Parts: sequence; structure tokens; C-alpha cells
Amino acid sequence: MEDLNKRKKEIEKDIQGIASLAMLKSAFKKYLGKQGLINRLFRSLTDLPITQKKEQGRQINLIKIATEQALEKKEIEIKDKAREDTIKKEKIDITRPAEKKEQGHLHILTQVQEEIITIFQSMGFSTVAGPDIETEWYNFDALNVPASHPARDIQDTLWLEKEKEQDNRSNLLLRTQTSPVQVRYLEKNNPPFRIIVPGRVYRNEATDASHEVQFYQCEGLMIDKDISVANFKAIISSFLKRFFGTEIKTRFRPGYFPFTEPGFEVDAKRGNNEWMEMMGAGMVHPNVFKAAGYVQRDWQGFAFGMGIDRLAMVKYKIDDIRLFYSGDLRFLKQF
Ligand code: DAH
Repeated sequence: MEDLNKRKKEIEKDIQGIASLAMLKSAFKKYLGKQGLINRLFRSLTDLPITQKKEQGRQINLIKIATEQALEKKEIEIKDKAREDTIKKEKIDITRPAEKKEQGHLHILTQVQEEIITIFQSMGFSTVAGPDIETEWYNFDALNVPASHPARDIQDTLWLEKEKEQDNRSNLLLRTQTSPVQVRYLEKNNPPFRIIVPGRVYRNEATDASHEVQFYQCEGLMIDKDISVANFKAIISSFLKRFFGTEIKTRFRPGYFPFTEPGFEVDAKRGNNEWMEMMGAGMVHPNVFKAAGYVQRDWQGFAFGMGIDRLAMVKYKIDDIRLFYSGDLRFLKQF
């Protein structure tokens, strides 16, 4: 004879300990399956006398019902718990600060170039471009640079096809200055006009803290009927004041450039610092007009060429030009 009470307690305890759906499934088989405990209990009734059979059968049936209910309850419990766990795990804390994604930004020289463009634009200058690969004619001859000028030498100029030794209109080089764009623009456009030409230039030089083989210049050209040195001074002083801030002082010194007459060098001074050369400039030489195909001397104007790297170095107190091109993020991220 089975001790059914004891059995019932054991089953209850067993079901209490179930912690997963897999365990639940095997408990179901163990108790309620075809070969499960309950069925075995029912089968064992056959040997009993009829009087006991009835009572025992009733009790086994109660155990069966209790087991079914307990398993059902357990299943709900496990599923509820699983749902709660996922909710907890997937909970979003909306008060947590967002992760900052690192973003790139414009290179300091691009920023400075854009600033220069903005300032000149406000004074009526438009921005134009010319080719990095130039002919000897535009880079030197048309700008009145004598054939014997040392700058044409292999020392300073990166020639592309010098070995061919063709004429100066087909000899190719990497432009050493943005000035050739003066001639290209004069050829194709009718004055009056005012333009700036920011761009890369190249020199065949050893690099050091103030020299790079490639750097940036910004050329300027303003042509009209009666442009004078006074116009140049006004425009450039106004540019430098806006670029550096109001505390800047400027100084104009005579300077020699083959494509100007007269020519100047413009210095700037901030605070207690020394005078720093900012650009070359001058009134456009008659030979430059001539090279661009101007026959009569109806037009005149000024031109200037400034180093964008130099302006950036003075403004942001950078002491080595090579830092701009180093790709060093510790440097670049400061701007
Ligand atoms: N091209 C000169 C240089 O690279 C700078 C310069 C001087 C440009 C005088 C000009 C100018 O337009 O008028 O050193």
C-alpha cells in the first residue's frame, strides 16, 4: 500500500524546486506522462480489494489534480520571471548621459583659409582658383621674373618635365607661388575686378620650423581705373585688423618683386611681439599687364601674396610649420 500523503508532499516539494521550463517539462513527464507516477499509482490499484480501491482511487485522482495545478502555476511563475528579467535587462536609463561620438573637424589651415575668404568677400573680393601644375611661362616669365632668376633654379622649383627642355610655355612645374593666377585671370576677365586666390604652392627646399616643401598662399588682385597704394593700405590694414583682432599694428616697407612696381613688404605686430612679415605686395608691374595681352595702359591695380601658414602661425602662436602637415591629432584637436 502506498503512503499517498507522503507521496503528495514529495511531489509538492519537487515541483516547488523547479526553476526552468526544461525542468518543468521533465517533471510533467515524470508525474503525468503515460509511464509517469500517477498512472503507475492508478495501475497499482488493480490488486486491491474493491472497498479500498474506491478510496485510494479518489485520493490518487486528487493528487493528479493537485500535481496538474502545481505544474501549471509553476509554468506561469517561470514565464513571468523570465519576462521580468528581460524587462529589467532591457531597461533604458533615460537619465544617463549620452555617449559622445568623436567627430572630425576642419583642419586649422582650412579654417584659417575660410576666415580669410570670408573677410575678403565682405570687401567685395571673389575667390578663384588656378592649377597647381603650372607652366614656366605663367609662373615666371609672364610675371616679369628674369630668365636668370635664381628662383627658377633646381634649388627652389620642382620641375616636372625639365629634361625635355621645351619652351617656357610647355615646361611644367609645381607652382612656386599663387601669383601666376593673376595673369591667367587678367587674360580671361575684363577689369574692374577684385579677386583672391587661396591655394597650395611648392618649393624644392629643405624643411625646417619655418619651411615646408608644400604650403599655402593667398594671392590678391584688385584692378580698376585709378587704384592706388592708398587703396591697398586701406584694404590690407582692414583685413589684418579683422583677422588678428583690433590690437594689431601694421607696417609697410619697400620690397622688390619683379611683378610689382613699386613693391612692398607688409609687417604686423601683436602686443609686445616683434614685427613679422605677413606678405609681399605691390602695384602690378606694366609688364604683367603686357604679358596678359593688355595693350593700352588703361588699368592699374595692386596685388599681394600672403602665406596662409604664416598667418595661422602668428595668430595661434604655432612655432613650427611642420606641425600642420604632421597629422598629429594632439596638435590638430586644439583648433
Ligand atoms: N609671390 C610672392 C612670393 O611667393 C608673393 C607676392 C609678392 C605676391 C608681391 C604678390 C606681390 O602678388 O605683389 O613670395
